[in-house]
Amino acid sequence: MVNFKAKFITPDAPGDAELSKGKLLRKKFEIKSEIKSATVHVTALGLYELYINNQRVGDAVLTPGWTEYNSRLLYQTWDVTSILRSGNNVIGATLGAGWYKGDLGWKSLRNGLGLRNVYGKQSALLMQLDLVLTDGSRELIITDECWKCSEGPIQFSELYHGEIYDAGQEKEGWCEAGYDDSGWDNVEIINRKPDTLAPQDGPLIRRQEVIKAKNLFTTPKGELVLDFGQNISGWVRFTVSGKAGDVVKLRHAEVLDSDGNFYTENLRAARNEIQYILSGKEKEIFEPHFTFQGFQYACIDEWPGEPQLGDFEAIVVHSDMKRTGWFECSNPLLNQLHHNILWGLKGNFVDVPTDCPQRDERMGWTGDAQVFIRTSTYLMDTKDFFIKWLRDLRAAQFDNGAVPFVVPDVLTGNFSDGDIIANAEAVSGWGDAAVICPWALWLAYGDEEILRECYESMKNWVEYIRKRATDGVLWNTDFQLGDWVALDAKEGSYFGATATDLIATAYYAKCTEILAETASILGNTKDKTLYTSLHADIKRAYENEFFSPNGRLCSNTQTAHILSLAFDITPEKYRKRTVKGLLQLLDENDGHLTTGFLGTPYFCQVLADNGCLDEAYNLLLKEGYPSWLYQITKGATTVWEHWDGIKPDGSMWSANMNSFNHYAYGSVGEFLYRTVAGIDTHSTHAGYKHIIMRPRPGGGLTYARATVETPHGAASVSWSIEENKFKFDAHVPDNTTATIVLPNGSTHEVGAGDHSYIVEIQR
Ligand code: BGC
Repeated sequence: MVNFKAKFITPDAPGDAELSKGKLLRKKFEIKSEIKSATVHVTALGLYELYINNQRVGDAVLTPGWTEYNSRLLYQTWDVTSILRSGNNVIGATLGAGWYKGDLGWKSLRNGLGLRNVYGKQSALLMQLDLVLTDGSRELIITDECWKCSEGPIQFSELYHGEIYDAGQEKEGWCEAGYDDSGWDNVEIINRKPDTLAPQDGPLIRRQEVIKAKNLFTTPKGELVLDFGQNISGWVRFTVSGKAGDVVKLRHAEVLDSDGNFYTENLRAARNEIQYILSGKEKEIFEPHFTFQGFQYACIDEWPGEPQLGDFEAIVVHSDMKRTGWFECSNPLLNQLHHNILWGLKGNFVDVPTDCPQRDERMGWTGDAQVFIRTSTYLMDTKDFFIKWLRDLRAAQFDNGAVPFVVPDVLTGNFSDGDIIANAEAVSGWGDAAVICPWALWLAYGDEEILRECYESMKNWVEYIRKRATDGVLWNTDFQLGDWVALDAKEGSYFGATATDLIATAYYAKCTEILAETASILGNTKDKTLYTSLHADIKRAYENEFFSPNGRLCSNTQTAHILSLAFDITPEKYRKRTVKGLLQLLDENDGHLTTGFLGTPYFCQVLADNGCLDEAYNLLLKEGYPSWLYQITKGATTVWEHWDGIKPDGSMWSANMNSFNHYAYGSVGEFLYRTVAGIDTHSTHAGYKHIIMRPRPGGGLTYARATVETPHGAASVSWSIEENKFKFDAHVPDNTTATIVLPNGSTHEVGAGDHSYIVEIQR
């Protein structure tokens, strides 16, 4: 932890609350002897880009990211030895509004005023440059009252709305020693205690990929539109030539409407517009600074001359995480689904696990994160990303243990009166992220420290429910979101038909069970006993309340059956009937799902684990509406928020909530790895120390293969079917063991290395 002597300095006047300009700050300084090393520590209230001697420091974007700022503001540290020199130097920064002071959340919040200045009204920079000179002396260059500030080319920049950049206002050489800043203003000091500062503890956001524009076409309405072929988070980089004062205007969209026109209504109040005013140089290349867009298409509203396809590239931006999972099988639509799930992760892991990256929301909804986390751990190394976010979750958790809807929590206290969740403090399926997320990290990475760090928070959440629950066992006392956006909802409603007290009690049981197991892993025998017995009580209460004496579930929905089976709270004597009930509900829907956020993630797995593998595949591979693959037949490149985002007749779900990049239903990715390919871990050998390899072929697939980069190295499986021969190859990484279970029932306990089998199967 750095001992900060630096002060927060702002170029904004207190009255600038409504402005979101990108202002410039600079300071010239002299280094009198040779430099041995130089390290800079920097953060901002808002967003910053740091420069030394006209060179950009670091390669991260949208720094310092988004945390529970009032408790945790992260600073980044960079080695800048190579860009400093003896003699005169300049350090400079551009500051943007970002999450700190720009628009946040949907318009109706705060009784129709919308959220803005959630954390403060003035952006500010904090920077400390630590110089070690060859004569052994040290020097600190810090942000203080000696800095100068000025307006610059960024006239406006906000996360949701895009950027207006006037290249004619660029201050040539502003970050070089020879520049005359006598006309610049003085900065003001912002008093903020340094005690919320913490070093960067998760992956930084970086540019990850460049995608060339695939197509430039004119829509029936006459709009000139670029198609990048992939729904992403990031921005467009373009190269343009023209006269000074010429303008480029771009808008962004995820989809076209049924007539093939540019569709932006689902972005709600987020403008997602880029405006660039040319300086008139021979060639100008532009990328925005303090904004990002969720898009596949860009509409060129203005451009000097004729735009060419080659003038445009999409820059993919997300938290910098290593890819760890690969999956492929003989069904191309399923491969596309895997691709879409991966891109759902890329599009939404932008420092915080967000619901969606395009509309006026982009928040860390806890429910979305908990349903997707396990899948995310297969696809990428999301360990540090979630460790960081869980620190924010703990910072946001209320003293009574309640976990807010979103983390960072910008909603509590800001709902409009009529908002559906205005009067709720915390809800099931969302607050449970406090328990389920650390557990998913434990399973995937086997790092006990995560459980230790999160234990109090996990326990506080369970204790919160215990206090809310009737007799401490049935959570039927509060408003719940329930099986969000399930198809069995009433027309026009977001609330699925499953009884919400059933869902809340089921999740309560699951979290209590996880807590008991966590206590056991951490050697806390007292808590282990306590929560094991609480779990048994909840299970009993669940049975009494939700099962008839003959074992019929009172809530006759797919999700009620799925959760009862997935969370193992169906009494053994009722299991058969519950499975039968689920199959019947499937049958009534012609094998289609009607589930929402909470039932969907477990659907295929529950079927496969209860003797209905064929039905699981049938569900997974359905191509008609509604299904995972239906979206793909409609051209999806990411996973949609609604099964009926685009309906079979081409019309859309209401524009007021229709994201085409929402990862929640991508939670089926876990099933592809665990069950289709067959790579799994277990809490007793977490982090794939002992691997379960249990491929379960079906659905007419003729081959599947997957690799998962585990903490011990790559584990891979590959199977294929020819006639009635099942051929299986596996690689078990060093220092691990595996149990291989083949479709004919044979089981093999193996050590590290390559293993191959051929067995007969019934087809
Ligand atoms: C978000 C969801 C979220 C839900 C809960 C929506 O607006 O996009 O993903 O979980 O609200 O209310």
